[in-house]
Amino acid sequence: MSDDDPTQLRLLAAEAVAREAGTLVRQRFLNASFEVSFKGPQDYLTEVDGETEERIAARLHAAFPRDGFIGEETAGRPVRDGGAVWVVDPIDGTSNFARGVAHFCVSIACLIDGAIEVGVVYDPMRDELFAARRGGGAFMNGAPIRPSDATSLAIACIEVGWNVRGGVKRYLDLIGRVAGWGAAPFRIGSGALALVYVASGRRDAFVEHHINAWDCLAGICIVREAGGYVSDFLANDGLKKGNPIIASAPGLKDALIASAKLEGIAP
Ligand code: IPD
Repeated sequence: MSDDDPTQLRLLAAEAVAREAGTLVRQRFLNASFEVSFKGPQDYLTEVDGETEERIAARLHAAFPRDGFIGEETAGRPVRDGGAVWVVDPIDGTSNFARGVAHFCVSIACLIDGAIEVGVVYDPMRDELFAARRGGGAFMNGAPIRPSDATSLAIACIEVGWNVRGGVKRYLDLIGRVAGWGAAPFRIGSGALALVYVASGRRDAFVEHHINAWDCLAGICIVREAGGYVSDFLANDGLKKGNPIIASAPGLKDALIASAKLEGIAP
């Protein structure tokens, strides 16, 4: 793959910017030097989120001035039809970050002509950089990754994402179903890390009633390139509105969808 290929250039840029941003986030976490507020119920915001997103946006804009930008925290830049657009979460797992739990990451995806071409998720506390480009495989710190060999929900470890948007009853129903299959439900507070953990076999599946594009697009690229399954997140204007998500090891895909019909999650 040539390094002047436009997609490869964006992959390399995303890796460098994610590492730079992650280093800043890590320093602020270790110094515990930030204000915490809320965007809404259980929706944490720290001053580090905005600062980091501005840094990422500036770096990407300098390298690719015509690209659009959608971030969790800022107004973004216009998205051109048929152009490239960056989709960024400066800190995914903000509730963990804000409460002193070292489980969060920087998530940077790039869509080109409507396809998720590049995904980079960087965990600065473990120095783990997960990266993929469409058709190029998925890697963690340069080594290929793949999902688990699980074929039975009855022994699966499943991340069950939660946020207030999905509603209490639906979440409790979903947790009940997952436990009812015999699987172990987990909720560790970062959708992006949940996805790369599916990609690398640390979890067998991830399900959530509603997730936003900045939390999941990079992870989706990485799961697919690792050989895992992910539902069609971009359907029905998912980029703007968010969507349900199911991601899994390939051997669980059919069982998960068939067992699920998860009240709007299964396709
Ligand atoms: C949240 C986390 C969480 C997921 C939510 C997201 P944030 O993002 O990824 O795990 O369940 O849907 O909103 O607020 O930490 O950036």
